[in-house]
Amino acid sequence: MAWDVRPTKDLNEFKGAVGAISHYFGGGPDDERAERFAKVLPLERMHAAFDGDAVVGGAGAFPFQLTVPGGIVPCGGVTVVGVLPTHRRRGVLTAMMRAQLQDIRDRGEPIAALWASEEVIYGRFGYGMASLAGEIALPSGYTGLRQPPDETARTRLISLDEAKTILPAIYDRVRAKTPGMFNRTEAWWELRSLFDPPERRQGGGEKNVLLLELDGEPAGYAFYRVFSGFEYGASTGRVEVIEALGDGAVATRELWRVLLEMDWLATQKAFLLPIDHPLLQQLRYPRRLQMRIGDGLWVRLVDVGAALSARAYGGEGSVVFEVEDAFLPENTGRWKIADGTAEKTDEAADLALDVRELGATYLGGFTFGELVRAGLVREVTEGGAARADTLFLTSGPKPWCPEIF
Ligand SMILES: CC(C)(COP(=O)(O)OP(=O)(O)OC[C@H]1O[C@@H](n2cnc3c(N)ncnc32)[C@H](O)[C@@H]1OP(=O)(O)O)[C@@H](O)C(=O)NCCC(=O)NCCS
Repeated sequence: MAWDVRPTKDLNEFKGAVGAISHYFGGGPDDERAERFAKVLPLERMHAAFDGDAVVGGAGAFPFQLTVPGGIVPCGGVTVVGVLPTHRRRGVLTAMMRAQLQDIRDRGEPIAALWASEEVIYGRFGYGMASLAGEIALPSGYTGLRQPPDETARTRLISLDEAKTILPAIYDRVRAKTPGMFNRTEAWWELRSLFDPPERRQGGGEKNVLLLELDGEPAGYAFYRVFSGFEYGASTGRVEVIEALGDGAVATRELWRVLLEMDWLATQKAFLLPIDHPLLQQLRYPRRLQMRIGDGLWVRLVDVGAALSARAYGGEGSVVFEVEDAFLPENTGRWKIADGTAEKTDEAADLALDVRELGATYLGGFTFGELVRAGLVREVTEGGAARADTLFLTSGPKPWCPEIF
């Protein structure tokens, strides 16, 4: 069946389309939440799928600017994707993905990115696993750092209101250097990052904001919650770090020193960390982090030529990819990268691969060598993977997206 899929036209349709995913969180949204959400996701960026007059599915795309190696690229930040249980497995998602990717392409956004509720869903639409995220649970007693405290470091707890004026500049400095991070508008800060309604606290305390200054200048911040608990009179409580960003090595270390060395609490937990987090080297007991790794951001090259031309390349030379894209066939073909630009070519291919493997390597989170060894990229010309990796190599940090959107 061909589903009728189009962008929402009014708040009522928007509410219905967001309602498809909300159904799986227990229901909603009400008018107030829909209005609030429309301030960060424009109505025309929310697609709805209709069965007659009834909305049965929805898929949104935030208008992001995403940091990639050597640049910042317009990106559809795919979000709130859902199909009501009454219409599942009848091609509604497929129809929405088709309309949404076309819309993203028409808007001149060469890439799309998302967090997947389940890893199995988006590969068929050309998304590749582009970054990893780590989760830690460090018992108190093992929180010591190798280096002594910086003498100019000071921390203080600030209000959510004060945070609004100080945090965005720190975030933007870290974002500019970190592939995988996206821009936050004023509305995003207000309605998402600094929003702390009691119903979102999941049994924890309020959202605390810790500000770190080095030499009197803001250099890092963290959001965290305390979950208190006791057994036999002793604390089993924990700190959950929601987001911690330091601009540089010293800022990161001093910020985490305060987060980790909080007295009385038994465990320090954090999620969505970069897997090359400096703490792994800075801690005296890195094993005690008990780091677990899972998929992070998934990336889709919507317009292969524009996307490959938008990122920077580390080395000299060129490479030719034979790309297969079953979902967006206009990307299928041979693409040559030379002098920082990608163009269609008739030259012989070095590597043959599906478009999702280009998504996996785009931010620098995975190498072509790794994907050849996994049997997912075929080396057509000997040494092709090494050549592509030299070209794609960046000295920056691993891609990291600190927030699920
Ligand atoms: C995920 C979801 C949107 C899929 O919608 P849908 O309309 O049933 O998907 P489609 O009918 O277009 O399925 C397309 C293909 O993907 C497969 N697929 C879709 N969702 C899948 C899932 N969760 N697990 C495994 N396979 C899935 C289908 O089997 C189908 O495969 P086929 O082409 O080989 O037959 C829907 O199940 C849903 O709303 N889930 C709960 C919310 C959620 O997880 N949303 C995603 C947020 S990131």
